[in-house]
Amino acid sequence: MAGLIPQDFIDDLIARADIVEVVGRRVQLKKAGREFKACCPFHDEKSPSFTVSPGKGFYHCFGCGAHGTAIGFLMEFDHLSFVDAIESLAGAMGVEVPRSESDQPAKRYDELFSLMDTVSRFWQDCLKDSPEAVAYLQKRGIDGSTAKRFGIGYSPDGWSTILDKFGQSDEATERLLATGLIIRKDNGKHYDRFRDRLMFPIRDPRGRTIGFGGRTMGDGEPKYLNSPETVLFHKGRELYGLYEARQALRQIDQLVVVEGYMDAVALARNGIDFVVATLGTATTHEHLNRLFRLTDNVIFSFDGDSAGAKAAWRALENALPQIREGRQIRFVFLPEGEDPDSFVKDNGADAFVGLLDKGIPLSEFLIKELASQVDMNSIDGRARLAETARPLINRIPVGVYRELLINSLAEAVGLTAAKLEKMMAASSAATDRPTQASQAFAAKRRRPSASGGPSVVRRAITLLLNHPEACQKLDIEKLAGVRRAGVDLLAALIETVQSEPNITTAGLLERWRHDEKGRHLSKLAAANVPNDDEFDPAAELNECMQQLALAGRKERIEFLIQKQRLTGLSDDEKSELTQRV
Ligand code: UTP
Ligand code: MN
Repeated sequence: MAGLIPQDFIDDLIARADIVEVVGRRVQLKKAGREFKACCPFHDEKSPSFTVSPGKGFYHCFGCGAHGTAIGFLMEFDHLSFVDAIESLAGAMGVEVPRSESDQPAKRYDELFSLMDTVSRFWQDCLKDSPEAVAYLQKRGIDGSTAKRFGIGYSPDGWSTILDKFGQSDEATERLLATGLIIRKDNGKHYDRFRDRLMFPIRDPRGRTIGFGGRTMGDGEPKYLNSPETVLFHKGRELYGLYEARQALRQIDQLVVVEGYMDAVALARNGIDFVVATLGTATTHEHLNRLFRLTDNVIFSFDGDSAGAKAAWRALENALPQIREGRQIRFVFLPEGEDPDSFVKDNGADAFVGLLDKGIPLSEFLIKELASQVDMNSIDGRARLAETARPLINRIPVGVYRELLINSLAEAVGLTAAKLEKMMAASSAATDRPTQASQAFAAKRRRPSASGGPSVVRRAITLLLNHPEACQKLDIEKLAGVRRAGVDLLAALIETVQSEPNITTAGLLERWRHDEKGRHLSKLAAANVPNDDEFDPAAELNECMQQLALAGRKERIEFLIQKQRLTGLSDDEKSELTQRV
């Protein structure tokens, strides 16, 4: 099973594999500078446009566009599955793929589920023995029965509690590794991932524990440590509390989506059971699919801070394709500085339900937000509004709802719907062009666009993929609050490289192989980025980061100024504005 091969092993394999050897054993390669060339094995050609780059660990054909890592090459050329390609590569390198020998895949999964369940119960027992953990829960207002309902536990301090108790054999250790409960060190030794934390089991809709979130009870970092992606656990798909909500309710009339574990638990504690939490990620399409399979009525209630506002907007963007007649999507904005947990504690369940009833519909949120970004009194501003609305509206399925939304938007802008649609059509010509143009990175080095637009993000990602070594010193904090397509991916890439300094281009691509957002990475990795001594990728990357930070700051100031004019600012926002300007 693919997932039972530990990610560490794949990382390591791809870092050590020599792509020239892998390809060269199947295709006659000729050296050409730093790279190797051949006639492409994947299409018919007379002159060689198939290039293998040992530095990047990557091949690319300029003729047919075929590209990939050593694993990808084996999959294509030898027609292997992902797992078989790994086996083949490992075999050629004389290493064994660490996998459990046990029988059927189904059985292996069962073993992993049962291990998770056993560990979860063990931690629940540990909770009873830890006065500190019990006191912490009490302080957070969580009573015993709620803790029990959510299976909350405590992972004792110590580097090998779980390892010693549940990792007696090699196979058992491997299961711990496959479920992310332990971590392997470079020297091959292992240690417990979760130590001295309050443990929240994350369950699938059938109630099986698939992952954990662990909260520190002090000021340690990170505040929440989560299970890594494993065969059982895919963060972008799961909704914390869904199983518990379904257990508690006979019928689900509505579901409230919150950001945090504690928000879900605290609301449940206060009798509001129809709550689920995303796991510190944006609300994905998969989340929404899952939600709408259960109910037509979804309410997002994110924190009353800028991160919460950002999360709400992302949820809106991803919800647009799911809009249908009969479905209701609303947003509840909490007072500044509050999250659902603190709000319900301070104001009680009725007050929270009152807020839910006053949630604003998606259409209203969309129009309000767009309008707040432009000067609605100027022609320019309205044109910009049409421009920003267009891609959003295009994601809504054609139908009555879309018509209604265009009508309300037109009304808000003070135009007829026909005129607005015309403006949106006109703006499409202007906004579609740069996306294609910015792909041409090759011969001429282009300056990043002054606005810090998407091309800067794309450029940064391209540089990073081609020169992972160049981003060791980048300050990821610079990207905080920058609202641009691809910024999250860029940040995740930087984080990965910084935590694994030896990772290669190919290693990064393999990391994102199964990720929706990573689909386009190999295209960027194939870009012809300069590799001569004069070219300083670290400096270029730094410049991209500066541009993005600047654009983010500018946007925030513009936003605050608009908001000041339209609705006024909170005290925090006022002081933020004075500081920023
Ligand atoms: P919050 O920081 O809003 O935490 O993160 P919270 O849920 O309010 O927790 P308390 O009240 O401080 O205990 C929201 C969610 O983001 C994820 C977790 O899923 C968390 O519940 N998160 C946050 C992490 O995964 N890691 C972190 O370090 C922080
Ligand atoms: Mn909180």
